Amino acid sequence: MSATGGAGAERPRIEVMHGVNLDQLGRRDPRHYGSLDLAALQQQVAAWAAELGLRATFFQSNHEGEFVERLHSLRGSAAAVILNPGAWTHYAWAIHDALELTGLPAVEVHLSAVKQREAWRQTSVISDLCVATVSGRGVEGYLQALQLLKKELSG
Ligand code: DQA
Repeated sequence: MSATGGAGAERPRIEVMHGVNLDQLGRRDPRHYGSLDLAALQQQVAAWAAELGLRATFFQSNHEGEFVERLHSLRGSAAAVILNPGAWTHYAWAIHDALELTGLPAVEVHLSAVKQREAWRQTSVISDLCVATVSGRGVEGYLQALQLLKKELSG
């Protein structure tokens, strides 16, 4: 499969990955994470991607090994990746190494303003591999990530 292969072959595939506990959006503290559940968030992101001429595909897992294996599968099949690994962001070096293996442009997204929260959320093990980090903008952060990746892919 090519990075743009299959139906909608002309639209670059952007893989949007959510990690641990993000399947619980809608039940988590709305002051940090808003009120959309993951399905509604993904629907919005898919619509923005289509408007930008991109094709979003989605993955969520609460199991770090599954998340890593999904990253392994992306090389050659996706054009870029948007990641919100949840709490793994702050300590899961295996995700850093798997992201590096993809060789793909990546944007890190957090719904909440992680830099203004607890000290343990200040570290990101993936930011050095990412074109940009977007945090504290809620679901709009994913639109910004798509726009950044579109620019990255065309430049
Ligand atoms: C999060 C921030 C993380 O610190 C937290 O553990 C999450 C979600 C965010 O989207 O703001 O689960 O990645």
